[in-house]
Amino acid sequence: MYIKKKKSWHISEALVTDESCFRNRRLFLNSLGKTVLTLSLYPSLSYASYEASNKLNKNYFLPSPYTNEKLATTYTNFYEFGSSKNIWRRASKLKVDNWSIKIDGLVKKKKTFDINNLKKLIGLEERIYRFRCVEGWAMVIPWLGFPVNKILNLVDPDKGANYLKFETFYDPKIAPGQKQNWYPWPYVEGITLKEAKNDLAFFATGMYGKDIPNQNGAPLRLVLPWKYGFKSIKSIVKITFTKEKPIGLWEKLAPKEYGFWANVNPNVPHPRWSQSKEQLLGANKYQKTQIYNGYEENVSYLYANLSKQEKLKLFR
Ligand code: MTE
Repeated sequence: MYIKKKKSWHISEALVTDESCFRNRRLFLNSLGKTVLTLSLYPSLSYASYEASNKLNKNYFLPSPYTNEKLATTYTNFYEFGSSKNIWRRASKLKVDNWSIKIDGLVKKKKTFDINNLKKLIGLEERIYRFRCVEGWAMVIPWLGFPVNKILNLVDPDKGANYLKFETFYDPKIAPGQKQNWYPWPYVEGITLKEAKNDLAFFATGMYGKDIPNQNGAPLRLVLPWKYGFKSIKSIVKITFTKEKPIGLWEKLAPKEYGFWANVNPNVPHPRWSQSKEQLLGANKYQKTQIYNGYEENVSYLYANLSKQEKLKLFR
């Protein structure tokens, strides 16, 4: 993101594979209104390698192919383990068995949850979301997890709470990237309480029907599909409800390039590149970027009453 001058996200030809992972065929056919569908139109259907579970939340179904699972789990951004995309082996050192998440700050019930208990307490559902990295690549991922708003009832935010601040673990012994002291570790990100209440805001604990792999943010990560991917913080250990707006790691490093809101917009270029198009991983083609990454209907109300000054910063 910040350090690399070259567009580090350009993927090699070897990694560009056909979109062979299609989701649940039954649902796919249903979504097309049970119109007669010939296999010549959708030849890859016969290669389905992952079936959506019956926990699928049908409000968040996309009638487009998933990103190839191997690609989505080996081409990742997790700077704690290095600045290349190929960190998945190193990330296996992260111990996620006895993981707890502390929730504190402006709440009536401060709590620490064991991740497995939290998953049992809330229950998991599956959602298919688009994902868009600020660098220009995009994916379609079947996540498993629960909406962020489910934790609000558990801790009961105070009246003065305006924001949620999320923090990743800090352990340079297992995460070599954290020895690079020019980054302001630990990784931090934030959203407004209003955004947290929006049903799209999601905590993922799994993807492709399995536990989420370490390199994608085990055991709990944020997924905010209408925002650039750097907001979707991985491997969360702490959530603090605050009065003041939290400053994320990238905003601290490069405030002119990465802001608090970071909503996807094809018409607002990053200072160093255009955002009008995106490369769908695995598809070997560019497609048009969509405003709010295609989720305008779900989220635009969140930003209707902001000051003029804040509105200017909505898309970076
Ligand atoms: N979370 C942490 N803790 N560390 C990171 O380096 N990278 C972010 C985000 N969450 C990052 C993080 C960026 S830049 C992106 S694009 C997404 O994770 C990538 O998610 P993925 O690797 O699962 O596709």
